[in-house]
Amino acid sequence: METKIFKINSLAEDEEIISYCADVLRSEGLVVFPTETVYGLGADACSSLAAKKIYTAKGRPSDNPLIIHISTPSEAEGYAYTSSLYYKLAKRFMPGPLTVIMKSKDTVPLATRGGLDTVAVRCPENEVARALIKAFGKPVAAPSANLSGSPSPTSAKHVIDDLMGRVDVIIDGGECDFGLESTIVRIEEDGSLTLLRPGKITPDDLMCVTEKINISSAVKRELKADEVAQSPGMKYRHYAPKAPLVLLDGDFDAVINYLSIQADTSFALIYYSDYEEKLTKLFPNSKIYFFGKEKDELSQAKLLFSILRKADKQGYDIIYAPVPNENGIGLALYNRMIRAASHTIKKL
Ligand code: TXA
Ligand code: MG
Repeated sequence: METKIFKINSLAEDEEIISYCADVLRSEGLVVFPTETVYGLGADACSSLAAKKIYTAKGRPSDNPLIIHISTPSEAEGYAYTSSLYYKLAKRFMPGPLTVIMKSKDTVPLATRGGLDTVAVRCPENEVARALIKAFGKPVAAPSANLSGSPSPTSAKHVIDDLMGRVDVIIDGGECDFGLESTIVRIEEDGSLTLLRPGKITPDDLMCVTEKINISSAVKRELKADEVAQSPGMKYRHYAPKAPLVLLDGDFDAVINYLSIQADTSFALIYYSDYEEKLTKLFPNSKIYFFGKEKDELSQAKLLFSILRKADKQGYDIIYAPVPNENGIGLALYNRMIRAASHTIKKL
């Protein structure tokens, strides 16, 4: 199919683009749009046909459910059985990078929710995303706009690389602010929360709303063969780099000692920019991607997926990266990086 690309410069001037895209959604077409986390591959959340088109365009298994995106928190009423805890979360974090899983109403087709009795709801902050959902007037189902198995896209260029010819429209709204996907929590029947995917909204942030939070064990480790996934996405390999990614668990000195004895292999390294001068001197023939200072998790989050995409194109034998710390936003980086590395951590 022909894919149209629209660049949005200012919402006030580009109203026509938004209304055109809302019409594409009304005719059950696919519209890629920016959010503050990653780009989303959007379609009418209430149409089974549209949901199926999403799974086909992404090459995604149809039992892996889609998040429905709404423009105001109360819109969830039409689609999910909400609770006071939902509204407490909404008051504090919506619009923003939080997805809440609740019991679904029948208005959401089974195709959209991957056959589950629950539905994932998110009210994004990005103004283009909000304008599109408002103009459409109904929820927009959207997974990340990458081909299944590649890192989530944080720029329109990434989307074009993956989905050109597979979607009707790509809205180019520049780079995503955060760069990792939303935090996902599930509201349990006993009024507690389960964290299924860490993101910019951290467990400490959630503690301000309720102290009853469980962190799903799959956030930090691999599911065992016989373990049931609390979220279908957990059981799929998220990103399979062509070169294996290995996380190095050790301080800077241990890392350089280890890399010095790997001189024969063509490796790339992802590392903290605090060490830029030393590393470029020590390894002048190796490619080193700097993704921000050690304490600057926001920079690391913003650059991680784009670096993984770049590194993948270069044909290295192996890619090394540090093990992120697990605190605050570090937990989101840790979760994405151990998955990209297929849980391969080298203790130094
Ligand atoms: O930031 C984000 O959340 C982005 C933007 C576009 O909003 N979306 C996104 O969607 O990351 P996706 O489909 O790539 O990841 C959503 C995850 C999947 O792992 C899916 O299995 C899980 O959410 N999920 C969706 N509905 C669920 C449900 N009812 N129960 C459990 N897990 C669910
Ligand atoms: Mg995804």
